[in-house]
Formats: sequence, structure tokens, C-alpha cells
Amino acid sequence: MWIIQSNYSSDHFYQDLEKELCSLIEGERNLYANLANISSWVYHTIPDMNWCGFYLWSETDKELILGPFQGKPACIRIKPERGVCGSAYSTSKTQLVEDVHLFPGHISCDSVSRSELVIPLIKNNTVLGVLDLDSPHVSRFKKRDAENLEKIFNKISEIIF
Ligand code: SME
Repeated sequence: MWIIQSNYSSDHFYQDLEKELCSLIEGERNLYANLANISSWVYHTIPDMNWCGFYLWSETDKELILGPFQGKPACIRIKPERGVCGSAYSTSKTQLVEDVHLFPGHISCDSVSRSELVIPLIKNNTVLGVLDLDSPHVSRFKKRDAENLEKIFNKISEIIF
């Protein structure tokens, strides 16, 4: 049984999160099982979110396709030139959007979402997907969240893919 305790305000939160996620995927090679558990853990430990999940790049379809997530059903396919996720994919850069209403081309899957953080999942210099976090609050995500999640998911991506 997994007991999820969140101490988000602690300085050690992201160090702990990295250890917890590595422990969660240890010994398991199935990509979808690992992404499912990671999305659950992140969703339940980082407060004030309404959606947390993955889009994976399909080399066949040349677009991002919905993967495991927590939250309401979301759009299934995202072209690389579209939305916040497409921007993270095509630039290989984390996208920190304080107000999604001000982001040209934002794709609204849940009208409740007001801010968004998207982290590219990179292995061997190739973007294989993105982690997408949505919050119902404007400016929910800070530089601290973006930098720490980027670092953690650079490491996680090397392990899970
Ligand atoms: N808002 C995203 C689409 C995915 S949903 O938020 C789950 C975007 O603009 O790419």
C-alpha cells in the first residue's frame, strides 16, 4: 500500500518527490503503468491542480497522444504546433503559463484550468512526450515548480523510456 503524504511547503518537497517517484517506478519496465502511477503521485502531492498527466509523441501519427492522467477526460491528439503542450514539444522547453487565457492557441480541455505548466520528457536529446499540469488558479505554478520538475523529469525520462 502506498501512503501519499504531501509536504509541499517544505524546502525538501522536491527532493522528497524525486525519491518517491524513483521508488514508485523501481523494478517496473512497463511505460504506461509507470506513467499512470507517476501522474497519480504528482496529482496527489502537488496541491491546487485540476489535471495532471502525459501526452506521448507518436512517430507514426506525428502528433502528441493522450497518455495516463488524473482529472477530467481531455483532448486526445495535439499537433506539435498547437497549444501549450505542442509548444513544449516543438521547442523542447518547459512552458510556464501564468494565465492560459493570454496564451495564443491554448487548448482548453477543462474550462476550469487557468494556469499551466508543461515539461518536455527528453531522452537522448529527443522529446518523447510531455508532462502537463493544470491549475484552476492564475499564476499557480512558480519558477520553483518548473525548475524542480524539469530536473526530476529529465532523470525520470532516462529511466522509464
Ligand atoms: N491545455 C493544453 C491541452 C491539454 S489539457 O490542458 C489537458 C494545451 O494547450 O496544450
